[in-house]
Amino acid sequence: MSDVQSLTTTALADIAAAPTLEALEALRVGLLGKSGRVTALLKSLGSLPPEARKAAGEGINRARDAIGEAIAARRAVLEAAALAARLASERIDVTLPGRDGGMGVVHPVSRTIERLTGILRGLGYDLADGPEIEDDWHNFEALNFPPHHPARAMHDTFYFADGHLLRTHTSPVQVRAMQGKTPPLRVIAAGKVYRSDSDQTHTPMFHQIEGFVVGEGVSFAELKGTLKALVRAFFERDFEMRFRPSYFPFTEPSAEVDIAWQQPDGSTRWLEVLGCGMVHPNVLRHCGIDPEKYTGFAFGLGVERFAMLRYGVNDLRSFFDNDVRFLGQFA
Ligand code: PHE
Repeated sequence: MSDVQSLTTTALADIAAAPTLEALEALRVGLLGKSGRVTALLKSLGSLPPEARKAAGEGINRARDAIGEAIAARRAVLEAAALAARLASERIDVTLPGRDGGMGVVHPVSRTIERLTGILRGLGYDLADGPEIEDDWHNFEALNFPPHHPARAMHDTFYFADGHLLRTHTSPVQVRAMQGKTPPLRVIAAGKVYRSDSDQTHTPMFHQIEGFVVGEGVSFAELKGTLKALVRAFFERDFEMRFRPSYFPFTEPSAEVDIAWQQPDGSTRWLEVLGCGMVHPNVLRHCGIDPEKYTGFAFGLGVERFAMLRYGVNDLRSFFDNDVRFLGQFA
């Protein structure tokens, strides 16, 4: 019985001090396993005299139970510590901000188109559309540029082999929007136009917005009022404006509009911002509208020109370089 006592005492001390689950398992095998020391004591019971067996057996069983409970208790402590260590090492901070992919922004040219068409739609204009690959009739002939007319040379046109061309302005949409319609008409069109030209102030592709009104008694005064309202609403300030006599085959009279632009040094400079005029009777006739009954005005403006002035951009080409450092500034 004293063997059992001292075995139990050391076993309980060893178990309490077992540093790892592996060490604890080794202790269990050495004590309670098939050839463990407690198992060996149980096996030796048979060699005791019968009267001693009962007491010895009870003592050994108590020792076995005590050791088993101590192992289970130590295992629970070691497992809890292992779980805590794992949770600590695999900890994820869910409050960290996510990695930002960056937000795109609306391109300044699109923004300017949205702004200008928004203002004009507020004035009651409908949106129209036309193809970028045009035919000679819509781009020139119907707009009163007869074949070989010198005004065609003002447009450095890109031609296709079959005689089609890349539209040089949005004015052909006037023709498409007027054909088969009965006035009153109030229409705008926005889109890409193409001219074979490239330097700091010209790109081979740029954008225009076209607007026109046809009805009974439509006057040049209305045109002036409309353009003043448009420019004031777009730039959110008042400008001195001047209508300078000019020439377009499809308008008569025609004018180019300049605004008095404030320079950084405080002086003002006249800057041309658009072309306009009263729709030429020949254009109305080509579209099946009676010029004796109806008159109209039309205007066309360069979107990039408006964007450059509003946002202070000095090189037209930066709109088309697709440099996100430039575009990101329009967030
Ligand atoms: N289409 C002309 C241009 O591109 C602009 C314009 C439009 C002028 C409408 C008068 C009327 O230069």
